[in-house]
Amino acid sequence: MALKLNAINFQSPKCPSFALPPVASVRSPKFFVASTLRSGSKEVETVKRPFNPPREVHVQVTHSMPPQKIEIFKALEDWADNNILVHLKPVEKCWQPQDFLPDPSSDGFDDQVKELRERAKEIPDDYFVVLVGDMITEEALPTYQTMLNTLDGVRDETGASPTSWAIWTRAWTAEENRHGDLLNKYLYLSGRVDMRPNGKTFRYLIGSGMDPRTENSPYLGFIYTSFQERATFISHGNTARLAREHGDLKLAQICGTIAADEKRHETAYTKIVEKLFEIDPNDTVLAFADMMRKKISMPAHLMYDGRDDNLFDHFSSVAQRLGVYTAKDYADILEHLVARWKVANLTGLSADGQKAQDYVCGLPPRIRRLEERAQGRAKQAPKIPFSWVHDREVQL
Ligand SMILES: [Fe+2]
Ligand SMILES: [Fe+2]
Repeated sequence: MALKLNAINFQSPKCPSFALPPVASVRSPKFFVASTLRSGSKEVETVKRPFNPPREVHVQVTHSMPPQKIEIFKALEDWADNNILVHLKPVEKCWQPQDFLPDPSSDGFDDQVKELRERAKEIPDDYFVVLVGDMITEEALPTYQTMLNTLDGVRDETGASPTSWAIWTRAWTAEENRHGDLLNKYLYLSGRVDMRPNGKTFRYLIGSGMDPRTENSPYLGFIYTSFQERATFISHGNTARLAREHGDLKLAQICGTIAADEKRHETAYTKIVEKLFEIDPNDTVLAFADMMRKKISMPAHLMYDGRDDNLFDHFSSVAQRLGVYTAKDYADILEHLVARWKVANLTGLSADGQKAQDYVCGLPPRIRRLEERAQGRAKQAPKIPFSWVHDREVQL
């Protein structure tokens, strides 16, 4: 087993790099200069670069899956062909961003844009802050494709590999690419947001990458993606619901259509992990517990607009307050996955496996209790200006 610990200058925010949105978030100082090793993370002094602001880093653990386990994924090639690729939609039947946007080649384009902008006027700024954060999260897709291609045994070795795993990753990316594309075009036409800082945030985020701590292991990686696809399904579902409440049925349709894609992707990823539980329950439950102990970091947790060092926390606070993605959702997703994978029913586990099983099964109620306590202590949050909406102030 090749376990390597590489401390490299990779960014990660000081604030929780988890999907738990902060209730009253801890604010981190501007930049870190300490270089003390803590459990599982390291803060490193770095030179501020114009494309990559320095942040805390985790110790980078790589290739933690024993190499012989790669054979499991080779053996699952045909299974993935028959069971996973079926969750992709043929391109000819896929929706396109154009289906939901004014048609620039039609005579009615100007009127359609005017109508879109009239509807957008009825929607408050806090909603747009969340929608911009969601758009930037979606647009950082190159990072997620890279992340999938870090996984041993399933990565696209050539860029055009014919394995089922590589086909999935490329086609999944192609499907996902429409999400950021559609939201970006909608937001541009809405006239409600400042596209320049939005573009800067995207550039910084791509430059930063992400730190999901999946250690090149497809066990950890597919648990992570199962969680994340469900999180994005919930989040886009809630922005659809809120758009409807604000009377914008077309925007509701946009967000709802994206949510439906996320659901389909969640189905595929949870099936892969279900299969791993079937053939290798002990290591899969250990991976599940490991991922949850490290906490699931949101894909865009390193976002930065060139100004706000706590931008992700601020965006998360607004998303939490609007009910788009909350700490309760985090607990609900975990509970859902524990039930989906029938973790409580696993038998024949090692002593460590049983401990991991107890840990993940007991975690959702513990998160809920912590969340309720944090809610009880939460003070009225301040309003802050967001560059994304022309520096207008939005309540956190
Ligand atoms: Fe997406
Ligand atoms: Fe997705």
